[in-house]
Amino acid sequence: MTFGFFDDEHKEYVITRPDTPLPWINYLGCQAYFGIISNTAGGYSFYRDARLRRITRYRYNNVPFDLGGRYIYLRDDESGQFWSPSWQPTRHDLENYTCRHGMGYTIIGSRYRGIEAHTNYFVPLDENLEIWQLTITNQRSKRAALSVFSSIEFCLWDAQDDATNFQRNFSIGQVEVEDGVIYHKTEYRERRNHFAYFTCSGKVETFDTQREVFVGPYRGWERPVGVERGRLANSVAHGWAPIGAQHVKLELEPGETQQIIFVLGYHENPQNQKFDPPESQTLNKKSVKPVIAKYLDSTHVNRAFEKLRQYWARLLGICQVETPDVHTDRMVNIWNAYQCMATFNMSRSASFYESGIGRGLGFRDSNQDLLGFVHMVPARARERILDLAATQLPTGGAYHQYQPLTKRGNNDVGGNFNDDPHWLILGVAAYLKETGDWSILDEPVPYDNHPGSEQPLYEHLERSFKYTLDRLGPHGLLLIGRADWDDCLNLNCFSDTPGQSFQTTTNKDGKVAESVFIAGLFVLAGRELADIAQRRGLAEEAKDYLAQVAKMEATIRQHGWDGEWFLRAYDDFGRKIGSKECREGKIFIETQGFCVLAGVGLDDGLAGQSMDSVNKYLATQHGIILQQPAYSKYYLELGEISSYPRGYKENAGIFCHNNPWVMIAETRVGNGDRAHDYYSRINPSAREPISDLHRCEPYVYAQMIAGRDAPTYGEAKNSWLTGTAAWNYYAITQWILGIRTSYDGLQISPVIPKSWRGFKATRIFRGVTYHIVVERAGEGNQVALRVDGVPIKGDIVPLPGDARREVLVQATLS
Ligand code: BGC
Ligand code: NOJ
Repeated sequence: MTFGFFDDEHKEYVITRPDTPLPWINYLGCQAYFGIISNTAGGYSFYRDARLRRITRYRYNNVPFDLGGRYIYLRDDESGQFWSPSWQPTRHDLENYTCRHGMGYTIIGSRYRGIEAHTNYFVPLDENLEIWQLTITNQRSKRAALSVFSSIEFCLWDAQDDATNFQRNFSIGQVEVEDGVIYHKTEYRERRNHFAYFTCSGKVETFDTQREVFVGPYRGWERPVGVERGRLANSVAHGWAPIGAQHVKLELEPGETQQIIFVLGYHENPQNQKFDPPESQTLNKKSVKPVIAKYLDSTHVNRAFEKLRQYWARLLGICQVETPDVHTDRMVNIWNAYQCMATFNMSRSASFYESGIGRGLGFRDSNQDLLGFVHMVPARARERILDLAATQLPTGGAYHQYQPLTKRGNNDVGGNFNDDPHWLILGVAAYLKETGDWSILDEPVPYDNHPGSEQPLYEHLERSFKYTLDRLGPHGLLLIGRADWDDCLNLNCFSDTPGQSFQTTTNKDGKVAESVFIAGLFVLAGRELADIAQRRGLAEEAKDYLAQVAKMEATIRQHGWDGEWFLRAYDDFGRKIGSKECREGKIFIETQGFCVLAGVGLDDGLAGQSMDSVNKYLATQHGIILQQPAYSKYYLELGEISSYPRGYKENAGIFCHNNPWVMIAETRVGNGDRAHDYYSRINPSAREPISDLHRCEPYVYAQMIAGRDAPTYGEAKNSWLTGTAAWNYYAITQWILGIRTSYDGLQISPVIPKSWRGFKATRIFRGVTYHIVVERAGEGNQVALRVDGVPIKGDIVPLPGDARREVLVQATLS
């Protein structure tokens, strides 16, 4: 069953009924001002940081889940009937409801009793505001007299405090209303220099800024008393719950269309120019007024929307493919790339599953996200890398998270996730291969943001590597610390106290438990670092790194191989995890995927065996399960992984993030059929026909699909903000389609299904547009290349030595 359809031409997913199984959302904004918007206009907005600078309020654990948002009400002033054109919150039976989620915008609309209304929600580039462009058409045969009401609820900035500290917060809310503009200025009188505003292009008849006055006692958003009455009370909030609600009247002849533009924005004043006049307590509106005036004008709004479209067309145009599979094309060309930009912007902070008040930007997560977006916004990737590296500790270890507003490491969570530092090496390598910008390695970057501690970025990479070398365990593998990629494999935690964090509780000294996964990661990161060192002219260092890598590979073979697959870890008692000897958790996906993609076991058959074991024990129709058999009880020595019911999350869920590791691993053993088959099993577009089971958005990946041990097998959860986005994008574009960035040029090395006769692609790489045509002449993966008609050796297309900016690459597979 479906709830809509893909409109590929417009790069939109069109939802055709509002009661989707879960809120199906989109993101507004891609620079500093952001919003989450659901298919019923729910969600919230913030400036840079979803926790510290929240603009509108969201209530956690809401019923329904998706309540509170950017709500517009229409009221027929003759009958007094009112409804929401976005369905929520009044939930009337609408005709022709559609929600078009597009690239950076969402258009929601419907018809009700002959009145058609659509709202285009978007954030203009380079502005800290969002626009709701409402278009209303009277399709009745009679003139219509309507009232339009808007509503948003302000958050008192720090969303965590806002949700809990009522004894203070009920007394601090402050607004100003001037010329129809509602200014929210809570705490501006003291230490803040920012405020929010809400305004509209129509003539404001009445307004409200106090929630209780607008909705009325014992009422909610579905039946505000002000809307019912057809007139607001011009309330000015002092304390309690400041909102913005406006009332505009419209008279529409039959067939007539009118537009109203609403603008919700965020603005900062210089500290010494906060008030006007300076000795007053009145907001200085001098610098915000021109911005407001500009965006209440539809010419500017239309232009801004067009610029946004061009922005996305440019970003997505960098890599476009045409394959025999529509789901591959749609995800690569549109949605997967778009999701990679969302994970870049949000990391794991704000979605309907990530509260925005929990995690900031993850060190591991953000480094991996680079794989998916570096080609689209290389300059911002550079900045992100330097920000991340600046939170690294002098030991080479890393804070697990940092806050985007302050760019400081998060002390509550701290560090000691021993895989973390390695991801920096992989992120930097991806950046270098894409851009060729070696200057980044010489950038001075501090440790733990301490002024004076700056060292070239390259040294940060060296310290990352050394961090693990200083932490070898009894088998010569790597000590795991608090956890590795699997945040829930907490081998030093031993927590028996309810409420303790599995990630930050450590009851063991951590000198025994080892991770085979980090060993695989070490091999990959070590190779990348050696390559970088070599190209920096540090041949001796490079040799040394490779020697360490070879040693680690041998150790993995000796202590990390279980006979048919790679082990997962050793626990604090030195016992195996992920072994045939275990009763539960005999085989894990992470080490199979990661060791093989790192190249371990390619020359002695272990890789192929590991892949066959994945296929036999872990692969299901809904994707590859994280581990089997699922843990049926809590194991003190394993931690959070065994806290989840069977089939969910890390306890044998289909954790989509590491499925692409296996896809890449399959390409490394040359199995394009399996690689693409695995790709398709979790491809959200391919799963669209089972939307009633899958339940999450069919246009983006979710972190998890419930595994076969779960009663809800096949149900996805936690969509949008997941490493799944970057890794799937990387797996399909760079390994299956095989258009791979390298230091020496663009490598073309597809490992595609045997049944594919070929595919086409366009890839802009270091300023050159490569038109790539791949054709199958035989069943294998052997590549022969012709560049602008001339055969070349090997599979790397060097950058043109001349002024050519367009290059034709013909690849024949045999
Ligand atoms: C989740 C993990 C997540 C961790 C972050 C755990 O509860 O299962 O997926 O990475 O929390 O703190
Ligand atoms: C989600 C976290 O964001 C990510 O860092 C982690 O690797 C996975 N969960 C697995 O636990």
